[in-house]
Amino acid sequence: MPTVVSGIRSTGNLHLGNYFGAVKNFIEMQNEHQTFFFIADFHSLTTHPTPADLHTNVKQVLAEYLACGIDPEKATIFIQSDVPEIPELYLLLNMNAYLGELERTTSFKDKARQQPENVNAGLLTYPVLMAADIIIHKANLVPVGKDQEQNLEMARTFARRFNRMYDVETFPTPRAYTFEGKDMVKIPGLDGSGKMGKSEGNAIALAESPESIRKKVMRAVTDEGPKELNQNKPAVIQNLFTLMDVVSAPDVVAHFDLAYNNCSIRYGDLKKQLAEDIINFTNPIRGRINEISKDNDYLSRVAKNGAEKARESASKTLKEVREIIGFRRFF
Ligand code: TYM
Repeated sequence: MPTVVSGIRSTGNLHLGNYFGAVKNFIEMQNEHQTFFFIADFHSLTTHPTPADLHTNVKQVLAEYLACGIDPEKATIFIQSDVPEIPELYLLLNMNAYLGELERTTSFKDKARQQPENVNAGLLTYPVLMAADIIIHKANLVPVGKDQEQNLEMARTFARRFNRMYDVETFPTPRAYTFEGKDMVKIPGLDGSGKMGKSEGNAIALAESPESIRKKVMRAVTDEGPKELNQNKPAVIQNLFTLMDVVSAPDVVAHFDLAYNNCSIRYGDLKKQLAEDIINFTNPIRGRINEISKDNDYLSRVAKNGAEKARESASKTLKEVREIIGFRRFF
């Protein structure tokens, strides 16, 4: 049975990009695979959260995961920092990760540009920690969005490199998972800038109020409208259609697509429809988020069970790795 690992940084509320890029695929897989879903709180340290924020964020993201439908009876859901085997494997993998390849990573270069006052070693070795997260459970499949493609490629490299160095077959080569052979998902932001993201400030959170969703969607960037029949959609308009594709019914998308193609489209109508469809989609999730985040006992139970199950799997791998590397106990 294939093993699936996926995760999310605890740096803010879950948004539509997270849901459609990673969580949705994961939920569909939890019924038939061995699945691990975790909250990457070590990864969040690269941006130096305050201690109070760190805990609040982890709790929020845990509640949001559960509200989306991740079922702790089926999947192992845990918090990264509850599993000390992960940072140990990270340390070991760091010995086989090279400065050149880490410096060339797009996400490192982007982050170094975004926060020039804080280009820390954790940012540089971010893909190594991510590889440790994945291969500690010997994962085969990793549901992630398009933006994680390069990080996943590095996890593949580190897994293969370990096997080659020690002439073993310890780690499978993990691959990105998307349903029905589709491309990895990239949900755009509403500001015309490409990706929806927490740090981009253009995200629609699953916990967002309907008023706020309406406001954001109505403010979305558009153009002056199509001039010719069946013309290609420019990126800002395609972005709105991409969002519609994931939240609206196919006949609604077809209706606006036709209106675009015959130049009768009114962007105001499209935005109103899009806002209502997003609200319909997020409403039940938002209700569950509110309920679950109040239930501290439930959250503690889920985190404790998850940590136990994750450690059981992680410690098995780590024991094997230590032996392969040559660590022998004197006592
Ligand atoms: P993070 O927290 O930025 O995002 C979590 C997941 O959501 C996906 N995602 C998107 N997908 C499509 N369109 C978008 N606009 C969009 N924005 C976010 C991400 O691709 C990701 O799948 N490094 C990871 C967290 C991580 C991880 C791991 C993931 C740490 N270790 C091991 C998988 C396996 C990250 O920062 O994701």
